[in-house]
Amino acid sequence: MAVVLVGAQWGDEGKGKITDFLAEEADCVVRYQGGSNAGHTVEVMHEKFMLHLIPSGILYRDTLCIIGNGVVLDMEKLLDEIEELEKRGVDTSNLRISYRAPLVLPYHKKMDELEDRYKRIGTTKRGIGPAYADKINRAGFRIVDLIEGGSFFEERFKAQVEYKNRIIKEIYGEEGFDADEMLAKIKGEAAKLEKYLADTSLLIYQAIKDKKKVLFEGAQGTLLDIDHGTYPYVTSSNPTAGGACTGSGIGPTSIKKVVGIAKAYTTRVGEGPFPTELTDEAGEILRQRGAEFGTTTGRARRCGWFDAVILRYAVRVNGITDLAITKMDVLDDFDVVKICTGYKYKDKILTEFPESINVLKECEPVYIELPGWKEDISSVTSFEDLPLNAQRYIEKIEELTGIKTALVAVGPKRDQTIIKEEIFC
Ligand code: GDP
Ligand code: IMO
Ligand code: MG
Repeated sequence: MAVVLVGAQWGDEGKGKITDFLAEEADCVVRYQGGSNAGHTVEVMHEKFMLHLIPSGILYRDTLCIIGNGVVLDMEKLLDEIEELEKRGVDTSNLRISYRAPLVLPYHKKMDELEDRYKRIGTTKRGIGPAYADKINRAGFRIVDLIEGGSFFEERFKAQVEYKNRIIKEIYGEEGFDADEMLAKIKGEAAKLEKYLADTSLLIYQAIKDKKKVLFEGAQGTLLDIDHGTYPYVTSSNPTAGGACTGSGIGPTSIKKVVGIAKAYTTRVGEGPFPTELTDEAGEILRQRGAEFGTTTGRARRCGWFDAVILRYAVRVNGITDLAITKMDVLDDFDVVKICTGYKYKDKILTEFPESINVLKECEPVYIELPGWKEDISSVTSFEDLPLNAQRYIEKIEELTGIKTALVAVGPKRDQTIIKEEIFC
């Protein structure tokens, strides 16, 4: 059975935590897009793990963890992550990497930094945009190409370094890269990763055929999707559920469920419109209580109320079948909690998420207010034991989105998760 987990908002919804929670039962966890721009946090007992490229199932020895072809691979970062995990006693021998994964090279990171001065998206500077651009432009290199080497690869590689150097030097007046030095460095990195490489599409196909439980772990979120997000303030891949197929090499008929992960409120990192953003004390309370500081860049996350317009949109573009609502405990202290049900734009009320970024910038949220629960829910273990007002808040989200909630998270730890409906059934 294949289940896709997607971020339903602007990322950082708690995908790492939910993936880790479900991975106990899963046989295989697959990352299908993004790169080291992702920062997925998993907390178990007193340990905290920040994962960027490695799937959040890695803490289970028997769960196969796959980095699919849709992920852009920063080998240096991946090797650091493997080393860090091994140092902390986590076995990474269950990791597999697609031969087809495109590489993030040093010049991609440099270009990301330089170009963002003009694009002003507020990227993570991890080389994501330039690496995906090269992939689509057929100017990139997959790890298989590097492993194979040969004159065709080396000529293409040297030509690319020369081309990138011209841009870096002539447009930005900065130092370029030495092709031979870079080649030696990346060959060394690839050699260390070779033992993990596999035909991952085949592994996933076989797992699904053998009726194993396969989880696809999205990175980023629906509104950061290159096609369906708040363009241009997006990432350069497809975090939405369709990306799970192209980014792993399986067909859509294999996917049985899509779980939309949403915080009980909304956050966003980087630039771009955000209708329910709170710049007042309430926003600060969400940031402090929710520890809303980026896992990858440490930047303060912008915070606001839950937005049901976004969730309905996420349901549509992902085909969400189940919700996982996270960080409910962060709302514990509020007298009143608000949910946005529509946007006021000029003299109209919009109930569907607009495609125009200029329209979105001018949208004013229309709220309903619900009473808060003013109780510590962080140790509640069943839905029925949640305060009635917390139950009503979740039921209101279900009513507004038309989707049932399967999981509710009430704290960062693995065991702070309430199961309302089973996912693997
Ligand atoms: P991801 O990118 O979607 O995996 O999310 P991040 O890990 O970047 O950010 C989510 C943060 O919230 C992490 O620090 C998690 O440990 C934490 N977290 C996840 N679920 C909960 C929850 O239910 N309550 C609280 N208080 N924290 C949570
Ligand atoms: P996870 O998987 C939140 C944001 C960046 C920036 C935009 C483009 O942890 O949810 P990029 O470096 O991808 O070109 O940046 O996307 N962004 C994220 N925001 N969570 C993430 O990942 C993000 N990955 C990228 O802040 O606004
Ligand atoms: Mg994150």
